[in-house]
Amino acid sequence: MSDTPMDSSKRTWLIASGCAGAIGGVATAIPFVSTFQPSERAKAAGAAVEVDISAIKPGEKLTVEWRGKPVWIVRRTPEQVAELSKIENELADPNSERKPGEITPAYAKNQARSIKPEIFVAVGICTHLGCSPGDKFVTGPQPSLPDNWPGGFLCPCHGSTFDMAGRVFKNKPAPDNLEVPPHMYLSDNKLLIGEDKSA
Ligand code: FES
Repeated sequence: MSDTPMDSSKRTWLIASGCAGAIGGVATAIPFVSTFQPSERAKAAGAAVEVDISAIKPGEKLTVEWRGKPVWIVRRTPEQVAELSKIENELADPNSERKPGEITPAYAKNQARSIKPEIFVAVGICTHLGCSPGDKFVTGPQPSLPDNWPGGFLCPCHGSTFDMAGRVFKNKPAPDNLEVPPHMYLSDNKLLIGEDKSA
């Protein structure tokens, strides 16, 4: 008898968290369903993925899947683009010189590591041991980050940090910048991930 109130509150919590999980699942599944053109089998084989980027607002990121990997598409704000030129002395490979053609395609070998300065495309996998870094787009002091944090990504596994162009900061476990996958624009708002003009 005395257990009844606890059981009841526990049940309520379980139902609430179940609902939250379901909503989260639906929300994250939508971009995958609505933006993928090829069949499941073609995707598994590594087919290129067409993505409509029109709904990504400045400062937002969309994640899609290509060859089983998360690919991020970030629409950087003008402030985020401007920040890229101010922190180069803190970066391990600011000009993407390492592993030419492997980490950074020729058309993204620039300060923003992208075809268009505002749109950043990267494989969201840390170059250390393969964790997925989290978004840390808010600038300034915060836990686990330096006080002059310019915005970027933080890998939760061993603390590697990357700027808004996926360039790794100096003296971090990750050896390289985040990979920029082959990609090209089919139109202003349509990206093809996995293929480029040179492919
Ligand atoms: S896997 Fe990212 S820092 Fe180790």
